[in-house]
Amino acid sequence: MMDLFAKCSAYDEAKKIKAAGLYPFFRPIQSTVGSSVVSHGKRRVMIGSNNYLGLTHHPRVQEASKRAIDIFGTGCTGSRFLNGNLALHEELEAELAKFVGKESALVFSTGFLANQGSISCLVGRGDVIYCDRENHASIIEGTRVAIGDTVKYRHNDMADLERVLKQTRQDYDGALIIADGVFSMSGDILNLPELAQLAKQYNCRVYVDDAHALGVLGPRGEGTEAHFNRMGAADLVMGTFSKSFASIGGYIAGEKEVVDFIRHKARPFMFSAAMPPAAVGAVLECLKIVQEEPEHLQNLRSNAQKMREGLESMGYNTLNSRTPIIPLLIGDDYQAYGFVSKLYEHGVFATPVARPAVPEGCALIRTSYMATHEEADLNYALEVLEKLGKEFGIIGTERQHELAELARVHFGVKTVSLPRDSKKEKVVQNEYAAVSAEAR
Ligand SMILES: Cc1ncc(COP(=O)(O)O)c(C=O)c1O
Repeated sequence: MMDLFAKCSAYDEAKKIKAAGLYPFFRPIQSTVGSSVVSHGKRRVMIGSNNYLGLTHHPRVQEASKRAIDIFGTGCTGSRFLNGNLALHEELEAELAKFVGKESALVFSTGFLANQGSISCLVGRGDVIYCDRENHASIIEGTRVAIGDTVKYRHNDMADLERVLKQTRQDYDGALIIADGVFSMSGDILNLPELAQLAKQYNCRVYVDDAHALGVLGPRGEGTEAHFNRMGAADLVMGTFSKSFASIGGYIAGEKEVVDFIRHKARPFMFSAAMPPAAVGAVLECLKIVQEEPEHLQNLRSNAQKMREGLESMGYNTLNSRTPIIPLLIGDDYQAYGFVSKLYEHGVFATPVARPAVPEGCALIRTSYMATHEEADLNYALEVLEKLGKEFGIIGTERQHELAELARVHFGVKTVSLPRDSKKEKVVQNEYAAVSAEAR
């Protein structure tokens, strides 16, 4: 027999990173101002936030949040099922359903709970989930709690999805295909048109996690369906307010009957306290702002484009992201930690992504951009990234070709290698993103 806690003293991964002086997690932020933060007493340009539209400091959002506290107090002190259901929650659900183009919506306390609760109550005995390998941890959690089986397919690879559907679909009753609309680490966009076609062919329902697509994709930020001009391609759309919508909370949206079922069956909804008033007030105002002030989305898109072009022309492998999430492929975990530490020393706050969030040997620096970034700050970040990229041998060396191969093998990014001295790899994957933009 062994002490239950023995694994805790044996756990030394974090200790090793700390001992190397490279621990890049839990850095305390003392204040946030626009697109920069103050941490360890120094102002740093933030290029690792999910605050895509920069609405956390919008005066109307802050006012709405304070107003909600004045009317409803600071907390709901119970689940919506019982004593915590505010008129404000219901107003948000009605407005949100309209915005994302679904019949009905249900608001959870976090996006994590929305995924865990919705997936686990829908997929019962005899049912199956087809799950993209790069889906977010909260989806994986939902698949673990669900009684039905889960079959994984290669990331955003529709040929592989079809292969597993052909092999297994006949063994199950109901089937749900689940994928992120914008993948949170690589920043690539789901191939929704082909996925929806396969779902139809194999009698499956479609569930899209729009955590990083809400506020970002589509003409006004409605999400992945709107981006492809394919409203209704997903049966259920899930999202979160912890990114573009400057708050906290999550939702599931779809047909009224299905949403009502989730309302009465999802345990994380029924047995966890409701989203607090200040958070709901903020989200309701964000919803109005995205419809009334298109400049935020325009700024976000032009800032992301500037950074993508700048980073790709330096020779960074960005996994062909076409969203404000622009990963920089580094490879080795410790090299990514070291790179992020150096960035921090130079006044740039970014975050590393290592195992298990990405495959072994495929560490990234996940950079992400905001509507509120100042041009001077972006130029500064580019300058530092160029200097460090060269110092770490990530750009301007043979390493670029090795990284292109890693991107191909592990992330399905096909690149056409140009001559060895060329700075840029020509990317040929994700054509559907461009095609869909044209279709719109
Ligand atoms: C793709 C995706 N889904 C779900 C979530 C969970 O959202 P929340 O932060 O609201 O719990 C996240 C957050 O990181 C995410 O990136």
